[in-house]
Amino acid sequence: MGNWKMNGSLAGNATLLAGLRASTPSPDNCDVAVCPPFPYLAQAVDALRDTTITVGAQNLSQHGEGAYTGEVSGSMLADVGCVWVLVGHSERRTYHAETDQLVAHKAAAALQAGLTPVVCIGETLAEQEAGQTLGVVARQLAPILAMGNDAVSKMVIAYEPVWAIGTGRTATPEQAQEVHAAIRASLASVGAEDVRILYGGSVNASNAQQLFSMEDIDGALVGGASLKADEFLRIVAA
Ligand code: 13P
Repeated sequence: MGNWKMNGSLAGNATLLAGLRASTPSPDNCDVAVCPPFPYLAQAVDALRDTTITVGAQNLSQHGEGAYTGEVSGSMLADVGCVWVLVGHSERRTYHAETDQLVAHKAAAALQAGLTPVVCIGETLAEQEAGQTLGVVARQLAPILAMGNDAVSKMVIAYEPVWAIGTGRTATPEQAQEVHAAIRASLASVGAEDVRILYGGSVNASNAQQLFSMEDIDGALVGGASLKADEFLRIVAA
């Protein structure tokens, strides 16, 4: 899954999307998706319509509809053709004060609209250095797990250590695997151990294969490297 973050333009996206279309992957064992900014969702849905690549949004409101100026609802995202939505990305948690509880409310709103929430969790550098990684992800997951098996089994989890995002500093496959295994064990406590767990943080075409070879790493949430079609497609191939 490519997270374009706040990047792109009609013209630039057209080039990127054409590049993705040109060698549309036909994976029989994975999903491929891109998450453009809100104004470009319809452009991406249109450009990828007859391909295997699906489209997601980067955020949604926890509310269904109404007087929430500047917000976008899950049903609007579904209406324009999204099938996924990121919730609780660390940049939302950091810059927009999204709490663990709010993230769970947003995941519920996504499910209500028929979207698959991709719930992002991960510790900061200070937390990692203090040996708090597993405690932090457990705290972040708690309100999600409290939603129960019916809800959790329809989600995707993305583990993105904040210190690895946009820094070029990837977690080693072993480091990531350890956290993914702990997340899988938490998911198992509500019978949702089959939920896919993506790794995110400086994933690129050179390190993807090694990360994907780990038992509990089921895919990737890719930022910077998803803005170049050939690089993103090489990650998909891996
Ligand atoms: P980078 O791949 O640019 O490190 O970003 C990761 C990320 O935050 C994806 O959501």
